[in-house]
Amino acid sequence: MGLIAATQFLYPSFLFEIFDFSVARMVHINALVVWMLYAMIGSVYYLLPEETGIETVGIKLGKLAFYILTAAVTVVVLVYILVQVGPAEESTIWLINEGREYIEAPRWADIGIVVVVLVFVFNLFATAIKGEQTGIVTVLMADVLALAGLYLAGMFFTDNISMDQYWWWWVIHLWVEATWEVFVGCLAAYGLIKMIGARREVVEMWLWIEVSMLFGSGILGLGHHYFWIGTPEYWWEIGALFSALEPVPLVAMFVHVIYDWGGKETGTNEVKGVAEEKMMNNSPAFAWFVTNAFGNFLGAGIWGGFFHTLPQVNIYTHGTQFTSAHGHLAFFGAYATILIGMMYIGVQGNNGIKKMKATFDSKMAISLITIGVMGMTVSLTVAGYGQVLVERAQMGATWEAYFVSQDFVWFVQGLGWRLATGVVTFIGFVFLVKDLLTTAKSPRHVR
Ligand code: HEM
Ligand code: HEM
Ligand SMILES: [Fe+2]
Repeated sequence: MGLIAATQFLYPSFLFEIFDFSVARMVHINALVVWMLYAMIGSVYYLLPEETGIETVGIKLGKLAFYILTAAVTVVVLVYILVQVGPAEESTIWLINEGREYIEAPRWADIGIVVVVLVFVFNLFATAIKGEQTGIVTVLMADVLALAGLYLAGMFFTDNISMDQYWWWWVIHLWVEATWEVFVGCLAAYGLIKMIGARREVVEMWLWIEVSMLFGSGILGLGHHYFWIGTPEYWWEIGALFSALEPVPLVAMFVHVIYDWGGKETGTNEVKGVAEEKMMNNSPAFAWFVTNAFGNFLGAGIWGGFFHTLPQVNIYTHGTQFTSAHGHLAFFGAYATILIGMMYIGVQGNNGIKKMKATFDSKMAISLITIGVMGMTVSLTVAGYGQVLVERAQMGATWEAYFVSQDFVWFVQGLGWRLATGVVTFIGFVFLVKDLLTTAKSPRHVR
């Protein structure tokens, strides 16, 4: 879907009125959110028995919820692709889509999603209360409750667009910059203990620090989306101050992973007397976790926090390809990477592999995907820079300015490179799928 949308930027007549840009883009970003939520739920179910020391409560119900959700998602996507748009009446919101970027699912599916997520939250809480409550599980419980609750803010409808956007941002921003980041903190903690035998006391201490910092800056950092949507002007100051602080926890998360990694190399293993092969028992997963530490810092911290979060800058960059550059690197760097890492941990566990090694495919996957997404990010940044200069600074953000900048050479070339690097990303993705499906059979791994 991303490739279709990227092609349409360069050749606007491509699939015109058959599968328009607006539809391709909608499917692309909704699918993004959905696969990540699946992977997050899957990760929790995977780590829960290990952390709590007991079997997960309500497994049957959880499986049923999985099939119901998958059936519902299939219907929603088929409607997106085949029906595409409705008559903009109440029935459209109920049956086709709600028109809220990233969470466009129609109302019937919204309600279904809430029920399915309630099952998940119930299972998590029931298991955690019955079993042992580690720091990781305790943070997860609070986080998942907030994450699920926030979805409700994107479910009601007002005909005032400012109010609608005001609440809609609660889902998107408070997800990715608060609750999802805390979630990633939990996964990083779990993964470090599991893969390199990092000390739980150290890892969980970091987790608590990160949680307090992430919530401290992330919640009011929401203000950076309230600059231009008709909310009161005090959001300029609040948004500027708190979102400028947001990179701080991201630096902490980065340091944390690197520090624990170093700690391991300098011999914490000997102290605990752990066998040699436990030093690093899952190379592909660990590679993705390290990419996560870098990607989160770069995509969210640098491309988000340093580049365009101040209103003085954002007035020029708002809604340009610059935003898209940040969106791609942040979603990829902060979430796609670590969730793929969790998939490798899952493949390892399910197949009883003691030490999982990298394969040719796993190396191709991580290299091509990372190079591809970095390439897309840089290309989009160049395109966005062209827009900022021509459309905003020189021509003063008029209607005409927009169209002039769309033909500007940097813009067009930037989007050309985005398509090319997008193809690289896609090839990497094919390697990744192949590797995840076949690597368990590889004789390289130690069993
Ligand atoms: C992993 C975490 C993050 C993800 C996944 C993420 C993702 C995104 C996405 C997809 C958008 C575009 C929203 C739209 O459709 O309009 C966006 C916008 C924005 N993000 Fe982030 N973001 C993250 C973290 C951050 C951080 C830490 C900051 C700054 C401290 C930040 C600052 C911004 C700003 C200022 C905008 C608005 C851009 C505009 O005015 O067009 N983001 N983010
Ligand atoms: C084959 C690779 C990909 C291509 C060609 C591609 C292309 C696109 C295009 C054309 C858009 C619409 C941008 C606009 O409205 O100006 C888009 C939006 C988006 N894509 Fe991708 N994409 C790809 C992969 C990814 C990946 C791997 C992620 C994250 C893990 C991602 C996350 C997003 C997000 C968050 C948006 C919304 C950005 C915004 O509104 O600012 N995409 N993508
Ligand atoms: Fe934000």
